[in-house]
Amino acid sequence: MSNYLLSTYARINLSFTHGKGPWLFTDDKKKYLDFASGIAVSCLGHSNPVLLKALKSQSEKLWHTSNLYNIKEQEILAEELCNKSFADRVFFCNSGAEATEGLIKLARKYHHKRGDFLKKEIIVLDNAFHGRTITGIQAGSNSLHKEGFLANEDCSCGFVRVPMGDIKYLEKKINLNTAAIFFEPIQGEGGINVCPENYLMDIRKICNKNNLLMILDEVQSGVGRTGKMFAYEWWKIKPDMVGMAKGLGGGFPIGAILLKNKIAKYINPGSHGSTFGGNQLACAVSLAVIREISKKKLLNNVINLGIFLEKKINKIISNNTQVITEVFGKGLMLGIKCKIPNADLAKTLREKGLLVVTASNNVIRLLPPLNITKKEAQKAIDIINEAVNAFK
Ligand SMILES: Cc1ncc(COP(=O)(O)O)c(C=O)c1O
Repeated sequence: MSNYLLSTYARINLSFTHGKGPWLFTDDKKKYLDFASGIAVSCLGHSNPVLLKALKSQSEKLWHTSNLYNIKEQEILAEELCNKSFADRVFFCNSGAEATEGLIKLARKYHHKRGDFLKKEIIVLDNAFHGRTITGIQAGSNSLHKEGFLANEDCSCGFVRVPMGDIKYLEKKINLNTAAIFFEPIQGEGGINVCPENYLMDIRKICNKNNLLMILDEVQSGVGRTGKMFAYEWWKIKPDMVGMAKGLGGGFPIGAILLKNKIAKYINPGSHGSTFGGNQLACAVSLAVIREISKKKLLNNVINLGIFLEKKINKIISNNTQVITEVFGKGLMLGIKCKIPNADLAKTLREKGLLVVTASNNVIRLLPPLNITKKEAQKAIDIINEAVNAFK
């Protein structure tokens, strides 16, 4: 551990030298099955040959020229993302938090340009996480993330918080100042909380009725994580804007905002930007990711192995309700509710060779690469079973 790094993370004393598929290796030749994927980032595993080829080939041509010039790779990626979604336009950035920033800016600008100068407030959910920038922590609900960072500790800062699922309460919070409703269709950091069945449809109707924008944060749930390219597809609605990052680069930093023309038409050169956003290297890798993820076989694998894992974990739960009590989620974005401290279970899993991530609400997250095999999923189940039994 380094004395030179800012201690923003309670780091586990473990480091890896290389990775292959869902496996990570240490210096002392230990190997770990990676069901964390760098927190839902390495969606096609480590050292994926298709991504390596895209990275190598682009890295030998051109890395970066800035957005002052046309970037062919960016144009192709944007077209591909629009063809696979509700969107007409794309803005590229470098991370999820940066996507959040842009989404909020664009929502306010949309109403401003239409002469609705009051419409600045954004409705957000309890247990939300939208990144660590000032706007991100304001939109998020974790008070620890905000402590000491805001200009005014009591400031709602233009965000109005509602509980997930309560449509009547949400409707009561809408007034002349409301600009948008912004939320994760499946909350990741918040504990793998899946929005209820009709929730997105109801919000879509409310947004249409009140001239509000429906904005989704798919930074964690997007890029095939749930068995669809975007999680919103499960709810059969179309949002107005979506934020993406994490899996979008399969490990290479890139974020994106997808949006409709009705918003894009109000944005002029100079109104928003990013130096690195969508450079050649990032876009070439991301294009390879999106093309791999779009394969029906891969998305079916996510759905099938998600069901497989859920079924097997439910079986473990039935014999161990004093340790874990519930499994939930969609595709390969799964949460296990713990009765013992989640960090204790994560530690035992790690000692037995399985990497997972903790989440709020005493939940363990399983976010494996989307191309894992049934054999690898079964290996994870064997380790979970062993670890859970060790707490008996
Ligand atoms: C839903 C969601 N939004 C935004 C973010 C922030 O992304 P980043 O860490 O890339 O800034 C995260 C990260 O965990 C996330 O899960």
